[in-house]
Amino acid sequence: MAGVVILGVLMAFGRLSLVDGFGSVVGLGVLSTLVARLTGRRGGENRQTAVDSGLDPNVARFADTLAEPCLLVNERAVIVYSNPAAVQRFPRAKVGDPLAFTLRNPELVEALGRVQETGEAQRSELHITAPNDVWYRAVVVPYRPHGEDGVQFTSISLYDFTEQKRTDRMRADFIANASHELRTPLTSLSGFIETLQGSAANDEKARARFLGIMRGQAERMSALIDDLLSLSRIELRQHVKPTGEVNLNLLIREVAESLEPRLAEGGVALKLDLPDAPVIINGDRQELYEVIENLADNALKYGGAGGRIEITLTPDASRSGAHHGLTVTDFGQGIAEEHVPRLTERFYRVDSETTRGKKGTGLGLAIVKHIVSRHEGEMTIRSKPGEGTRVEILLPR
Ligand SMILES: Nc1ncnc2c1ncn2[C@@H]1O[C@H](COP(=O)(O)OP(=O)(O)OP(=O)(O)O)[C@@H](O)[C@H]1O
Ligand SMILES: [Mg+2]
Repeated sequence: MAGVVILGVLMAFGRLSLVDGFGSVVGLGVLSTLVARLTGRRGGENRQTAVDSGLDPNVARFADTLAEPCLLVNERAVIVYSNPAAVQRFPRAKVGDPLAFTLRNPELVEALGRVQETGEAQRSELHITAPNDVWYRAVVVPYRPHGEDGVQFTSISLYDFTEQKRTDRMRADFIANASHELRTPLTSLSGFIETLQGSAANDEKARARFLGIMRGQAERMSALIDDLLSLSRIELRQHVKPTGEVNLNLLIREVAESLEPRLAEGGVALKLDLPDAPVIINGDRQELYEVIENLADNALKYGGAGGRIEITLTPDASRSGAHHGLTVTDFGQGIAEEHVPRLTERFYRVDSETTRGKKGTGLGLAIVKHIVSRHEGEMTIRSKPGEGTRVEILLPR
């Protein structure tokens, strides 16, 4: 504006020709628009005073108070306002740009179209896949600040429900997996019962063999149900801090004793590396027993071929010294890298030479993870194929 006034004065006093003056005004206009756009972008500033859009600044101020992202678009679906939550979530959705530059989900475009057509609020779900998988519930509502005949804006409020979507999916997967895991031994049991009632009714030898297999299947189902119940109990108490004092040295020795027959049978040596002074923490004795037992069981079951297992307890093991460390190490076949991050998923089992034929439900490490997190601890699994596996658990002092 200042530039235009100066140019006008110069022209009025005959210091500038009409043509030059006009050219300069146009040039200034282009330049200032460019500068405004550039500075606006660089600063990440995404507000608009709403004067040129016809939007009441009070509406914008109100939208600023909302915790959820809220965008306002005009009749041409150009963004006229983006509240701070929206600026943060969708930094590329700039005021002045068409909404479709950044949010071009067909569901949202369709909802906007319907609002324009019908003048009625619409709801839809958006699934945004980049950069992360996020689900939004979009509420698209028309807004006419000057009554029926005036301009129409549309407000788009987005509610993130990714967490709920994930839990729903997990629940569905869980039920499908649990049913499948139970159905397999059940089908086999039914098959044997049928054979025993039919063709093998008078075959003593076959009956003895089949009953042995049936017993194994029944045990498998029973172990699965125990694990499922254990998981559900721990989940129920997930947010309740454990009370009680646990002597970890004693607990480890107890697990070691219970493993003795299996260790002897498999010819596996167990080395305990425990400090002399007792390491006592706040925790749930039964749950922590389950943790050590599960890890030792895995080490023996899948890593027993290495011939030895080590359990160590290190006081003040973390860098800050605020945690005690418990590690279970085996020297078996290890686990291929791609499986490691998934081991704590429910029912996840590695299908490899060493694990095939070993009984297990794939729930052990999922239970361990839950217990550790209830104790506000951390678990890290490190494995080198061919060399062995080491699981470290840090528990708060
Ligand atoms: N020390 C280990 N060495 C090699 N593979 C392992 C080891 N620990 C776990 N795994 C792999 O991780 C999978 C998941 O272990 P997890 O303890 O969760 O279940 P599981 O042992 O199969 O069943 P459960 O513990 O309920 O009896 C196992 O099936 C196995 O493939
Ligand atoms: Mg296990």
